[in-house]
Amino acid sequence: MGSGGVGKSCLTVQFVSGTFLETYDPTIEDFYRKEIELDNSPCVIEILDTAGTEQFASMRDLYIKNGQGFVLVYSITNAQSFVDIQPLREKIFQLKGPRNSALVLVGNKCDMITERVVTQRDAAYLAAEWVCPFYESSAKTRVNVTNVFLDVVKVINQM
Ligand code: GTP
Ligand code: MG
Repeated sequence: MGSGGVGKSCLTVQFVSGTFLETYDPTIEDFYRKEIELDNSPCVIEILDTAGTEQFASMRDLYIKNGQGFVLVYSITNAQSFVDIQPLREKIFQLKGPRNSALVLVGNKCDMITERVVTQRDAAYLAAEWVCPFYESSAKTRVNVTNVFLDVVKVINQM
């Protein structure tokens, strides 16, 4: 979950199929499934790639209720997107309860260093407060893409 254009679809597609989508096509809702190996055992991960655009967000409560783990994505090049993850996290807590809210915080587009506006320090501070894993990722260069998805499964398994 996260604001429009932060790279949720690109992260998902990079994780699932190892390719990078250059063109921006706002998502309504897409579903993916990938078999992974975690601690030597096979595991199927089902990913709902959600809409960042508010006009497509009507299904939000329903998919939060149905979700087990949540990747909260902002872009390091967009300060507002970092602000926007806070109410999303509150919504998840409200609907799932704090003990069932498996979260990973992700600052995407870390390849765009010259356009950075959100510091790593501010985000790490927030993640420490939330007690959740935090990564800076790039869907373009594949930095931390696998770690993001494996970690959300790990957090789910710890709940
Ligand atoms: P919505 O579906 O509207 O919520 O957007 P989204 O969060 O799914 O964004 P999407 O993955 O479609 O990416 C938006 C734009 O950012 C596209 O043009 C991507 O090519 C670009 N982009 C996504 N991730 C990265 C990244 O890590 N690095 C760079 N340089 N560009 C990225
Ligand atoms: Mg999308």
